[in-house]
Amino acid sequence: MLPVRPAVSKMKPYVPGKPVADVQRELGIVDLIKLNQNENPLGPSPKAVKAATAAMREVHTYPEGSSRALRQRLAELWNLPDDWFIVGNGSDEVFRLLAETYLEPGDRAVVPAPSFAGYPLVIELMGAEVVRVPLAADGAMDLPAMAAAVVSSGAKMVFLCRPNNPTGAVFAEELFPRFMAEVPRSTLVILDEAYREFDETEFDARGFLTQFPNLAVTRTFSKIYGMAGFRLGYGVLRPALIAPFYTVRDPFSVNNLAAAAGLAALDDTEHLDRTLALTQEGKSFLYGVFERLGLPYTPTQANFVLFDVGRPAAQVYEAMMRLGVLVRPCGSFGLPTSLRVTVGTAAENRRFAEALARVLEKPLGSVLEAFDNL
Ligand SMILES: Cc1ncc(COP(=O)(O)O)c(C=O)c1O
Repeated sequence: MLPVRPAVSKMKPYVPGKPVADVQRELGIVDLIKLNQNENPLGPSPKAVKAATAAMREVHTYPEGSSRALRQRLAELWNLPDDWFIVGNGSDEVFRLLAETYLEPGDRAVVPAPSFAGYPLVIELMGAEVVRVPLAADGAMDLPAMAAAVVSSGAKMVFLCRPNNPTGAVFAEELFPRFMAEVPRSTLVILDEAYREFDETEFDARGFLTQFPNLAVTRTFSKIYGMAGFRLGYGVLRPALIAPFYTVRDPFSVNNLAAAAGLAALDDTEHLDRTLALTQEGKSFLYGVFERLGLPYTPTQANFVLFDVGRPAAQVYEAMMRLGVLVRPCGSFGLPTSLRVTVGTAAENRRFAEALARVLEKPLGSVLEAFDNL
């Protein structure tokens, strides 16, 4: 047997939300709603679908390797030069490029905990050490503690997630410049803004990017743009930091269809506005449900809500799945009594509420009526 690299043999695989097809096959449930991976319940922008369909005609040709057209449009939207953008096969590829390019065995990288599992994965892949810093009480990053951990561990990299997955909480904008001042310039700060478009608070990532040369911001088309299956995301950082990525990366990691769809999706503001309105309405409904059922929840700036069922959440998850409602149990985040639900359509949210009340054997009563009267 060929020995596996020690770094790889120590890693645990990423646990994604359960695919619908698996539940359908295992439990024979056909009518299933999927609220477990923070996708857009309205689907992709029709303009993105049209652009991808048109791009099918060119699928016999290799993609332009750097997704130039998409970078140029992003450059206009961000008002930054286009060589500040790296497009990836999901923002996951951007995290991997950052780790592969800048981390070596023995290096350290700081991550918040609980947060997105993709960060430890790429750090461990490089044989580097993950330093975990617990979240603050409000579910956002504890920026002073993270800065202190960077300094004391000599970390080369630190990941921030705003809004954070799975809590949906955000740190206040005014805390960020102090954090950046405390972190050495030789440490790369990666700010993952996968859910930024849902966030109603002030936060000027662009302003910070121009101010701090060791900052990288990542975004994705998987969430509000409804294109998770296409695998498209990007990073914004200094051209000198991006340049080596073109040596490391698969030259054609972003396919023609995804790049064309992304370009069209960026300009479909109507689809974005509709999604935002649906999310805001759905959030208030879900808050009402949790209050009615007496379940603690974390107020969110994203398109999902974390709530605590006060008992092993895996059982509640299983029982809800049998009722055709797929949510995310948070044991893998170290939160064994919590579940995370994606904000769905009004009908999906209602079905979620009914299934949850039934499993917990609690009455919902007036919550549904209140929304019936809207
Ligand atoms: C916080 C966060 N960052 C990044 C990602 C991955 O995004 P992508 O689909 O662009 O790889 C996710 C996906 O769930 C996420 O929750």
